[in-house]
Amino acid sequence: MVSQSTKYDHLFKNVIPNTIDGIRIFGKNDDYVKPQNYDNVLNLENRIWAELFQNLEFLLDQYASREYLLGMRTLPIPNNMFPEFEAISPLIENSTGWTLVPVAGFLDEELFFDINKKRQFPVTDIIRQSPRFDEKYAGVDIQNDEGYTPEPDIFHDIQGHIPFLMNKKYADFMWEIGVLGDEIIIDERGLGPDLMAHNLKRLQNYAWWTYEFGLISNTGESDRFRRAANDMDYEIYGAGIISSFDEITNVVKCAKGESERSRFLPYNMEEMVMTCFDYSNIQDRYYVIESMDSLYDSFRNNQELFWFEG
Ligand SMILES: [Fe+2]
Repeated sequence: MVSQSTKYDHLFKNVIPNTIDGIRIFGKNDDYVKPQNYDNVLNLENRIWAELFQNLEFLLDQYASREYLLGMRTLPIPNNMFPEFEAISPLIENSTGWTLVPVAGFLDEELFFDINKKRQFPVTDIIRQSPRFDEKYAGVDIQNDEGYTPEPDIFHDIQGHIPFLMNKKYADFMWEIGVLGDEIIIDERGLGPDLMAHNLKRLQNYAWWTYEFGLISNTGESDRFRRAANDMDYEIYGAGIISSFDEITNVVKCAKGESERSRFLPYNMEEMVMTCFDYSNIQDRYYVIESMDSLYDSFRNNQELFWFEG
């Protein structure tokens, strides 16, 4: 695990002690694959899914990015019951080569990037607010709200991330992040453990501010895919926003000047890699990219930011 502090931590801005005690983190030597037992999904769990999904459906139709909307339309992700991993995975594989890997919970960075490098995306099969979720985290002080949970759950994993993996360019970008993460962890450049940990945190910050909580400038071009026109300056592409009712409504309110809780900042890769985040709260900032292509280009052209040498 790379959450331990290193001597380079003082270089980061916005340092937040993000630790949840008592949660099991799975590594590559653990039995981390846990097939989805679809026949055993409870009616109650389907109802939780339906409620979460339907609560967001219209908001996302209006505000989510084009890549998301198109992916959602082509995948069997129902609005009223648990999605079935084995029904989704072959379709993604056919489009972009990614597959879903059902996992037992949080994965450590090494395992996470290693499976991303194989174009595999980890998905969990439990849902927030369900008895199985409570049972798994019994004795752990973890947020478990309808609006948000910091835990990977099926709603975040499938509803938030998976539609994007139908897009070829996005899927390649995610794969490149996995490859880079793996190169950093195996310390390909021989920088030593402190710099390895520091550079990995830079990559985690970057992932957070982009594919987890990023926004795109709204040019109006995606409106033809929407039922109602997007009436704010941004489109949402961060999966952490997409799977959280609280976070979406915060973005919309701040964008419309009805709240000042969070700021919208221009994409600045140097700043983003050095800015830590708080996963247990509404974000205090969102970085805005000009376009998905500009994000991919910038990531490819600035890899040195992840190879800080001290
Ligand atoms: Fe995520």
